Amino acid sequence: MAYLPQELITKKRDGGALSGDEIAFLVGGMTNGAVTDAQISSFAMAVFFRGMEMDERVALTLAMRDSGDVLDWSHLDGPALDKHSTGGVGDNLSLMLAPIVAACGGYVPMISGRGLGHTGGTLDKMDSIPGYTTQPDNVLFRKVTEACGCAIIGQTASLAPADKRFYGIRDVTATVESIDLITASILSKKLAAGLDGLVLDVKSGSGAFMPTHEQSEALAESLVAVANGAGTKTSALLTDMNEVLGHAAGNAVEVATAVEFLIGQAQDPRVREITLALCADMLVLGGLADETDSMEKVAEALDSGRAADTFGEMVTLLGGPSDFVDSYRTHLPATPVTRDVPAPASGYVTTMDTRQIGLAVVALGGGRTNPADPIDHAVGLTHITDVGTKISKGDPLARVLARTEDQADEAIRRVTAAVTLGDKPASRSSIYRRLAPTGDA
Ligand code: URA
Repeated sequence: MAYLPQELITKKRDGGALSGDEIAFLVGGMTNGAVTDAQISSFAMAVFFRGMEMDERVALTLAMRDSGDVLDWSHLDGPALDKHSTGGVGDNLSLMLAPIVAACGGYVPMISGRGLGHTGGTLDKMDSIPGYTTQPDNVLFRKVTEACGCAIIGQTASLAPADKRFYGIRDVTATVESIDLITASILSKKLAAGLDGLVLDVKSGSGAFMPTHEQSEALAESLVAVANGAGTKTSALLTDMNEVLGHAAGNAVEVATAVEFLIGQAQDPRVREITLALCADMLVLGGLADETDSMEKVAEALDSGRAADTFGEMVTLLGGPSDFVDSYRTHLPATPVTRDVPAPASGYVTTMDTRQIGLAVVALGGGRTNPADPIDHAVGLTHITDVGTKISKGDPLARVLARTEDQADEAIRRVTAAVTLGDKPASRSSIYRRLAPTGDA
């Protein structure tokens, strides 16, 4: 049915609820060009101020999902499962989670994004591996997913194209910060992957995308309700981003820590707790385990080395070195400059401005200020101190891997300014809350 876009914008501007047909018309116009940039931005602003009811959010998500290809994995002998994180610093969980779930019988066709602002992107991390292709054609993507159970690749133009246009307009019209629109944007892309189950890792804290804990929680609730309303079994964890996850932030350095985690060489306890909790929820969503044995299954897949083997197989099938898991250090790029960040005083690490740590990595060249910028995969931070650690003046707060001495000086300044030292030990968190699937998706 045809409508006049301005009539629909008026209805939303005045606080009305749009029908599924009306929303589908607007989204169709975003994809075929029948709705102008001005109309899309007015619609976004109307939603920003008036909000959307649950039915409208579900309709918007489904219309955006269906604006391009929707993958189908129904021929596989196990469930298609995935995770989405709202983004953080040092958040390399996807690299461990995908092979763990694959080693438990799930299929993880993981379509990931690049870094956004201060947060890192899974795709940029995987691009650190020489030869690994993050943009395979559909045939190779399917072949790898079927052969080893997981494939971590990049967004293609044919998935949720309406979101690409809509997000580009929101980005320049001050309308990104709408939970209704963020929900539809994130889920349209994830649900286009044709999943049987989805877990969400919604971050809260100084390095999170949402500015307050309450808003992170509201986003988690909206994502879970809408994804289940759209027919995909979905749960979420609300997790801490008041400090870097693990001890490294950058691209190649996070691939290295992921391999070390998978082979059992170094496992940060918070990273292990959150990763296994997300994996366990994925098994339950996919019917591969129940609440009583899911944790045991994922821990066995990791601790037996099966997940590490799966990761190695995925890397090889997507063009990377066949000995990557054994020889990752020789394959990953390195920097000429390594400098420690000396603590300016003695005391406990009480707070970390995680966003500023992420921006220190961006300033080193490890992230982008413009979407088209190239990045330096080798630079980053390692040995980042945990919140709560007692240190003496001059002890390292972190290690900087830089291309030049000037960049290292700048990163040292930024990291020093981002960490607060005090005289009392600070408490730390990992998982704040679990949100179970709603309804009967
Ligand atoms: N990430 C997305 O994919 N979409 C948004 O709207 C915000 C963050």
